[in-house]
Amino acid sequence: MTLDLKLEELERRKRESELGGGEARIQRQHNEGKLTARERIAMLFDPGSFQELDQLVMHRNTDFGMDKQRVPGDGVVTGYGTVQGRLVYAFAQDFTVFGGSLSETHAAKIVKIMDLAMKNGAPIVGLNDSGGARIQEGVVSLGGYADIFLRNTLASGVVPQISAIMGPCAGGAVYSPAITDFILMVKKTSYMFVTGPDVIKTVTHEEVTKEKLGGAETHSQTSGVAHFAADSDEDCLATIRELLSFIPSNNMEEAPRVATRDDINRVDASLDGFIPENPNQPYEIRDLIKTIADEGHFLEVHQNYARNLVVGFIRLNGQSIGVVANQPAFLAGVLDINASRKGARFVRFCDAFNVPLLVLEDVPGFLPGTEQEYGGIIIHGAKLLYALAEATVPKITVITRKAYGGAYCVMNSKHIRADMNFAYPTAEIAVMGAEGAVNILYRGAEDREAKVAEYKEKFANPYIAAERGYVDEIIEPRFTRRKLITAFAMLRNKRDSNPPKKHGNIPL
Ligand code: HXC
Repeated sequence: MTLDLKLEELERRKRESELGGGEARIQRQHNEGKLTARERIAMLFDPGSFQELDQLVMHRNTDFGMDKQRVPGDGVVTGYGTVQGRLVYAFAQDFTVFGGSLSETHAAKIVKIMDLAMKNGAPIVGLNDSGGARIQEGVVSLGGYADIFLRNTLASGVVPQISAIMGPCAGGAVYSPAITDFILMVKKTSYMFVTGPDVIKTVTHEEVTKEKLGGAETHSQTSGVAHFAADSDEDCLATIRELLSFIPSNNMEEAPRVATRDDINRVDASLDGFIPENPNQPYEIRDLIKTIADEGHFLEVHQNYARNLVVGFIRLNGQSIGVVANQPAFLAGVLDINASRKGARFVRFCDAFNVPLLVLEDVPGFLPGTEQEYGGIIIHGAKLLYALAEATVPKITVITRKAYGGAYCVMNSKHIRADMNFAYPTAEIAVMGAEGAVNILYRGAEDREAKVAEYKEKFANPYIAAERGYVDEIIEPRFTRRKLITAFAMLRNKRDSNPPKKHGNIPL
């Protein structure tokens, strides 16, 4: 064979792989509003940077006529490239090839890049679009899933793992994304569930659509399984790129610093009057977050789930910071089961990957009620406490208004190793609100109003905490950005650790 023919042969094989399941199936994918695996990869990575591996891998199955149906690549595109110049590994399942179903060889390709990502300390992005286990293969396909689950678990806390659900993801297949750090879903075209509508109907007689059961809105609002709900494939991939910009490549590194033109001494006089005088009046905490952030930029995580707590990433003087903030504009910012789980998961991500934490506190306490108690608020609330207490990254709190009861302790108090606690002059740091306190201390008292006023006078302020050193400084709100940047700079070389142990036993 001449060299020309050899090159032609290589070209022919690559072209065959690139065509996947063929034009008709590609057209079907497009008609459903979905991009193909290769189009997604091209959009995720910096132009021209993607290096594909195992493009010619084929399955070895001979059952059910499969020996006559072999597509090079076997339904998944794998490889590495750069995102904003930084190394990232990715796999993208190709729904046009056997419905993106996972065979032994398909799994081996994913495992190969996961192992490379672990050795080389770079994030893994999975673009999921699959009918699940390759039905013709049986148990070897299940083995392939388990091989991936093991690596997801071992990689957890070592390299960031991001899962995008861009089509079906059902049955046991959901458990790979579930172990990863962030799940993004595309509205209308993706769904995730352990058992689908048909099985549910047979077992429980409930009737539910795929979308209602496991669509992007359900998982980003109701179950909290998904961190982001994207409007389209393009939006989803752009969000992954943005998310990657806030996080380091592995647990030994810090997130990249991004030069900012925003003045680090920027003073915002409007903040002085930002907290309403009436302690029961809500305000939008995201406005405060954006006011202090570099260029007003805030990447909110879990935006529509447990909205009483806001979490996400900002930069302060170019440094990536994880923000955890009570949201007075939703349920008065109370802590409940979902908010605690949401906050704890975010805090643990930030701590595992060296992202400093900023807590903005205005919390009336934990949500009372049988629903919460029966649901295990004791255990779930403890998750947030445990996560914040365990975290060794730089940790700063700003108490903007209420810091009541157990929630005061939980929300990154000095007592659980916060490095710095600031309070606004509007802060109220007490065991409970004045009304509740008087109801207990002076039940039936005739001069109730006077007692409430007395309690407010004594405790509805930050000064007793400041006298004790529980609050390091009472700050004028207008200087919040400057104060935070200065304090995080002071903490840049912070070293702290936990006692040696196999692992802790977080209340799950
Ligand atoms: C092999 C599969 C497949 C699978 C789909 N295909 N799923 N091939 N194994 N699991 C093939 C179809 O035969 C079809 O081939 C092509 O992919 C597209 O599938 P359609 O059904 O035409 O697409 P659509 O109508 O969009 O429906 C998608 C779907 C459906 C809802 C995913 O295909 C489906 O229900 N598939 C089976 C899902 C399933 O039960 N998987 C196993 C679950 S158990 P042609 O040649 O016609 O294009 C599991 C366990 C994991 O996954 C365990 C981990 C522990």
